[in-house]
Amino acid sequence: MALYAAQFVGSIPENYDQWLVPHLFDGYADDLAHRVLALQPRTVLELAAGTGILSRKLRDILASGSDLVASDLNAPMLDIARSKFQPGESVRFDEVDATDLRFGDASFDAVVCQFGVMFFPDKARSYSEVHRVLKPGGSYLFNVWDSWEQNPFAQIAHGIVEATFPDDPPGFYKVPFGYHDTGEIRKAVASAGFSEVTVEHLPMTSTIPSAANFAKGLVFGNPLHDEIVARGGNPEEVCAGVEQAIERNVGTDLSLQALIVHAYKY
Ligand SMILES: C[S@@+](CC[C@H](N)C(=O)[O-])C[C@H]1O[C@@H](n2cnc3c(N)ncnc32)[C@H](O)[C@@H]1O
Repeated sequence: MALYAAQFVGSIPENYDQWLVPHLFDGYADDLAHRVLALQPRTVLELAAGTGILSRKLRDILASGSDLVASDLNAPMLDIARSKFQPGESVRFDEVDATDLRFGDASFDAVVCQFGVMFFPDKARSYSEVHRVLKPGGSYLFNVWDSWEQNPFAQIAHGIVEATFPDDPPGFYKVPFGYHDTGEIRKAVASAGFSEVTVEHLPMTSTIPSAANFAKGLVFGNPLHDEIVARGGNPEEVCAGVEQAIERNVGTDLSLQALIVHAYKY
């Protein structure tokens, strides 16, 4: 069963795409797209494609004859992704749970996933499924966020949420920033059968136009919004608190850091 934190539905996809994607996901999507390109794959499966930031870049950069499947658990995320493509472009959108892939064995040269693995409730199963659908010689490339310390904006947002709901704080920000132990990741990926696993830390700086816009993304652009509402809270008030805290503690230059994992199937 999917985690509550994985429910990117309702008004969340639009807010996610407008207020978060340009500041948190664009640069890392460029990085992953180039890594996939270097593999020169003919068949690519993207997991947890969300609103399509990486799918768009992959289609732009990969050979025109290559096949691309962009998949996600949540159809409303894929609806936005679909809107970024013209009719006739070669991309297939598919509603797929990354822990239960509906594809045949050895179907893809590359599988790629940007900031999705943290949300998969059964990571071991998702790694096994990816290994199964990869062709021999194929690669799984994915990134995950490093800790709160390396991504201070997330700790700041969680701090406001905790101060607002001291008895029962929404836990959203613990999920995407809670899976970054290099040893644990290597071991889990290798246990699925991958022969070689590399993990690289990749820092980036992202400049936000305003704390107000970014705070909207941090509160309205992910399932934290629904956690606040479920507690009878007011997302606008939380958003105002996050905006002030971002302005005071971060300014306009966000320090970001992710882990880039490359697993090879021999
Ligand atoms: C932070 S978003 C990342 C989206 C996109 N890759 C990007 O870079 O903007 C996490 C995504 O994981 C998806 N997701 C969560 N659990 C999933 C699962 N079990 N299988 C597939 N996708 C899942 C969510 O629907 C959401 O689109």
